[in-house]
Parts: sequence; C-alpha cells; structure tokens
Amino acid sequence: MSNEKRASFGGKLSAILVAAGSAIGLGSIWRFPYLAGEHGGAAFLLVYLLCVLIIAIPVMLCEFAVGRRTHKNAVGGFRQLSKPWQILGFNGILCALFISGYYYVIAGWSLDYLVNSINGSLYNSDISFAQQYAQFTASPWPIVYTLIFILLTHFIIARGVEKGIEKASNIMMPILFIILILMAIRVAFMPGAADGYRFFLTPDFAQAFSADTLFTAAGQAFFSLSVGMGCMVTYASYFNEKTNLIGTSLSVSLLTLFVATLAGLVIFPAVFSAGLEPTEGPSLIFITLPEIFKDMPLATVWSAIFFILIGLAALTSTISFHEVITAYLAEEHKMSRKAATYTTTAITIVLSLITLLVTFDFNFLGKQFTSTFDIYDYGSANILLPLGGLFTCIFVGWVMKPQFFREEITNYGKLPGKIVPFLFILVRYIAPILILYIFLKGIGIL
Ligand code: PFF
Repeated sequence: MSNEKRASFGGKLSAILVAAGSAIGLGSIWRFPYLAGEHGGAAFLLVYLLCVLIIAIPVMLCEFAVGRRTHKNAVGGFRQLSKPWQILGFNGILCALFISGYYYVIAGWSLDYLVNSINGSLYNSDISFAQQYAQFTASPWPIVYTLIFILLTHFIIARGVEKGIEKASNIMMPILFIILILMAIRVAFMPGAADGYRFFLTPDFAQAFSADTLFTAAGQAFFSLSVGMGCMVTYASYFNEKTNLIGTSLSVSLLTLFVATLAGLVIFPAVFSAGLEPTEGPSLIFITLPEIFKDMPLATVWSAIFFILIGLAALTSTISFHEVITAYLAEEHKMSRKAATYTTTAITIVLSLITLLVTFDFNFLGKQFTSTFDIYDYGSANILLPLGGLFTCIFVGWVMKPQFFREEITNYGKLPGKIVPFLFILVRYIAPILILYIFLKGIGIL
C-alpha cells in the first residue's frame, strides 16, 4: 500500500456525501426511532439534538483534523501525531469490529423484508407480523441475508475508495433523501397521524434530562454521526487540502438530523395511526411498519421502497466501518489492499455468525444481555464510542498545540477563523466534561 498513490475524494460535495453516507444509516432509520419510542419521543429528540450540537460535532471536527493532517488510517493517524495516542486508533478498530458484529445482521433483515415485500409473502400470510418476525429471526434466512449484505459491502470496498465508496455514496444518498421525503408526505395523510406528531414533537422535560435518556441519547449521537471510533479520521484522510472541515461537519450533522427527524415523522404518525405501541424496541420498524403498509393502496410497492431505503442507508455505512479496518490492515500491516479487504470481510463473517448463532442470558450494570448483539450494541454506542470521543477531544484540545486545530479548521489561514476560539472551547472543556458526566452517570458511578 505504501508505494501506491493514496486515494482522495473528488470535490466538496463528494466529501460531504461520503461522510453523510457513513453517518446516515440504520442508526437514524432503525435505531433512532426505536430508542425515541422507548424514551418518550420528543424528549429524546430534544436531548439527542443537543448532544449532536454540543458533543458530536466537536468530536467530528477533531477526527477530521487528525485524518486530513496525517492522511492515514485511524491507528496510523494518531500514532503519527503522538505514539502513545495510537491507542485511540485501536479503540476505534475494536469498536468497528463490535459494530460489524451486529450491523450486517439488521441490514440483512431489511433485505429479507425487501424480498418478501416484492414477492408478496409478507402481506399474504395468515399469521401476524409479530409472528412472522419471530419465525423469520428463528429461521436460517437471516444467515443467508447477512452474508449477502457482507458480500455487497465487500464488492464496493474491493472497487476502491474512489470508484467504490465515493461513487456508491454519490448515487445512493440522493435516492435515499427522495424516498424518505415521499414517505413522510404519504404518512401525513393517514388518519390519526396527529397523535404521532404530538408524541414525537412535544417534549416532557422531566424525562428528557433523566440519566438514562441522556446516556442513551449521547450514545446515539456518537453512533449516528459515526464519531468516536476513527471512522471520520479514516474518511478525512481522503479529503484534500481545500475541504472545508467546518462546512463538511455541519452539512453531515444537519443531513443526519434531518434524516433521523424525517424517520420519526414517518414512523410515529404511522404507528399511532395503526393503534400500535411506539415502545416495541429493535423490532419496531419490522413489525409495526408492515402493519401500516398493509392497509395502504400499493402496499407491496411502498413496503419495498421503504426496505430499499433502509438497505441503501445501511450499505453506505457498512462500507465506512469496513474501510476503517481495511485501511488499518493495508497501511499498518503492509497488506495489499485486496488482501486487507478479504481479511476484513472474513472477520466480519465470523463475528456476524457468532451473533446469529449464539445466545446466552446475563445481567450487567442493570442491563439484560441475551446475545452478542446486545454486547456489541451497548459496548460500542454506550462505552467505546463515548470513551473514544472523550479522549479524541482531550488529545486535540490538550495534547496537541492549539495551532494544530486552528490550521486544520482554517486550511492554514485560507478560511475565516473567527469561530475557531469558540470551537476550541467546546473541544477543550465543554464536550469532554459533558461526555464524562453523562458517561459516569449512565454507568451509575455518579
Ligand atoms: N452512523 C452509522 C449509522 O447511524 O447507522 C453507524 C456507524 C458507522 C457508526 C460508522 C460508527 C461508524 F464508524
């Protein structure tokens, strides 16, 4: 790899679409709605929004700065700046492995639901959608669809950074926005939709600032913006010297917020309209949405469109954490890019199979864990990503000289720097203190 020319993304828009492609995924369309449903709807939306603005954006800027300065993978990037801090890169690789362990499984579910929407079997069955979901998750099909999804990701990564990642994101992201907007308009005309809007848009402040809601929303902010694990370090290593880091991070965050909010505006009115419960958990979109589609004209078409949307969103994210591991292996272990891609895919298959095949039952920190799925999800979003984010801020805010941040944010003085002191205060004090507070409260130490 070291003697190959390093790839870089074409224009300004590509940098935004690729980073937004990583950010917008199952996190916004599957995870956000079910967590919001469990944590009071609007209360969750409000806290999530604050966490994105005050915590996740500063972390993203720090990751961008490290990646664009070093043009290296997550481990190599931190190591180039300060050797002991490469551990932050390793935290990122571990986290990418955790997320790989369950993300493809959920993405695989969406493929199955897509196929069953198209062939009509989802809507022609005599049993309820909840029973269909239970039957499906207990069958061997999730294994097949998970493998298909891993291979799709492999195929894009194997085409390389520019022809694979960049091109796929540029095509898929705009399609995703259009589908989601169409669905939000469609749902607005369903009877009873107003209750859903009320649930999602009028916050209960007491619930909003409970330790549990704060902890979950902060984890979701990290997860949905792909920050805290060096993913944005890796992607920013392909940015060029003209990329505007503030502009890119704001665009990515706003697009992600927009998609998560739209997902809520599709799902909650629909859930209430059908008289269902918003607190369904991870199965929310797989059980409640077919329930809604079934009474709509052209049910199978809408249903297929929705699951295509989820599949596309997931794919632009799976390629990003696949790339975190691939770039690390290629650059740090001197593997060819091809060998690194195959190795990452093989590891991903093993981790996903464990999630699909192994179950257990234990309680830790007051939380029930029944499969590696729970460990991977909780461990990444609530532990590894916040810790990664916290130490990334400490690294850029305290270990590196202030010029480092200023130079990267202003492209060495070519962009206006008035906002830099304010951002630096966020990076140095506000974001790390808040992350630490929420984290310690969340795990029950404070
Ligand atoms: N942001 C992605 C989502 O919301 O689905 C998930 C993700 C991708 C998390 C890449 C972390 C990451 F590095």
